[in-house]
Amino acid sequence: MTDDSYILSDPKTGTQVELPVHRGTLGAPTLDISNLYRDTGMFTYDPGFVSTASCHSSITYIDGDEGVLLYRGYPIEQLAEHCSFIEVSYLLLNGELPKPEQLTAFRSKIVHHTMVNEQMKSFFTAFRYDAHPMAIMVGAVGSLSAFYHDALDVHDPEHRELSAYRLIAKIPTIAAASYKHNIGEPFVYPRNDLGYCANLLRMMFSVPAEPYEANDVSVRALNLLFILHADHEQNASTSTVRLSASSGANPYACVAAGIASLWGPAHGGANEAVLSMLSEIGTVDNIGPFIDKAKDKDDPFRLMGFGHRVYKNYDPRAALIRTICHEVLDGLGDDADPLFELALKLEEIALQDEYFIERKLYPNVDFYSGIIYKALGIPSSMFTVMFAIARTTGWVAHWMEMMADPGQRIGRPRQLYDGSARRDFVGMDKR
Ligand code: SDX
Repeated sequence: MTDDSYILSDPKTGTQVELPVHRGTLGAPTLDISNLYRDTGMFTYDPGFVSTASCHSSITYIDGDEGVLLYRGYPIEQLAEHCSFIEVSYLLLNGELPKPEQLTAFRSKIVHHTMVNEQMKSFFTAFRYDAHPMAIMVGAVGSLSAFYHDALDVHDPEHRELSAYRLIAKIPTIAAASYKHNIGEPFVYPRNDLGYCANLLRMMFSVPAEPYEANDVSVRALNLLFILHADHEQNASTSTVRLSASSGANPYACVAAGIASLWGPAHGGANEAVLSMLSEIGTVDNIGPFIDKAKDKDDPFRLMGFGHRVYKNYDPRAALIRTICHEVLDGLGDDADPLFELALKLEEIALQDEYFIERKLYPNVDFYSGIIYKALGIPSSMFTVMFAIARTTGWVAHWMEMMADPGQRIGRPRQLYDGSARRDFVGMDKR
């Protein structure tokens, strides 16, 4: 970071405050306001953190105006074309693309942590059969710290690395168990001879009664989707993980908090909400009334899978996922999914509407992903779980980056207080 400064002056008193400016490798420079309250007695006010950089990071860069997404400097399009998800996970955690021997060693470490403690089985069966899989994920991932006392010192790099491997390795096993519990089928153990995505599909879809082998189209599609969902700078769930971890909480509890945040329909829960929305729209003729609802300020309805806090251009991931949609539907021999045709028409109509153009609202990562998951036989209740599996790598990468920073301190924002001024207690007889 290179520094220069910015002068803030109060026109009433003429007092001035010099604020250091930090400039990163790419993107907007930042005003360092860490001493603002000490020097002026004032806080900044930024609900939703629209103009706030909460940290410095070298993991992911987004240019929202240009629709650019880089993982450790590499364009997402190139990583999607050339890498496996495990290779991208190595890149996000370590900062460089792995050499062959490094990738082999990393894959082996992940593979040897895919099983969960057998006692966790009763944990899953304790949930109602129809519990939402994300509810099970929050509980099951949070409970992992009850099993792994041997590596919970968050200030020990070796403990951090072991916990990182455990989380990335076990999240598909827990996700598949959540699904199997929902459908009343026996849990399937992971297999060490299968790749990350093939293993997940087998744990979800195989049954003891017959052999199962994931088809290549599904494995390739899942690999691409996981790469595209792996990380995304300081989004709500990643910021939740960072803030939780800032108190020194263990990584399993922090990732469970991230899963909870991701579940919201304004965030990762949108992919499930898009499928419900498309099913409710039903036909092309019905698109108009839904677009009108989305534009109606008195109607809380929003076009799910559209808009983004950062992207004011097409989300590069949505463009890639739309392409994969075509390939998956062709490859699986599905008759073109009517919901995909409907989604394409909805995008076309919305992007010609002044309301969306003026507000720079484009399809985001969640708009098309559910179409693919559905084509792979994954139920909509599992769509956000799939997002959580991929994003666990990003959450863990940010957690490791933050905990390795010697300047790391607990996050403790302030507020603009607009409640009652001091007043005395009023007895019951006088209320
Ligand atoms: C993800 O942050 C990340 O990086 C997230 C993510 C990741 O990888 O981690 O990319 C994943 O969460 C993608 C977003 C998934 N959510 C949805 O698809 C839900 C639908 N989208 C919206 O709820 C909304 O666009 C958000 C939450 C995504 C962004 O909200 P902002 O930044 O607070 O935007 P805003 O509410 O200030 O909207 C600006 C204007 C408003 O209108 P005006 O008040 O200016 O008239 O655009 C309107 C909004 O009403 N608007 C929409 C809209 N999104 C914004 N109007 C209709 N439909 C929409 N989807």
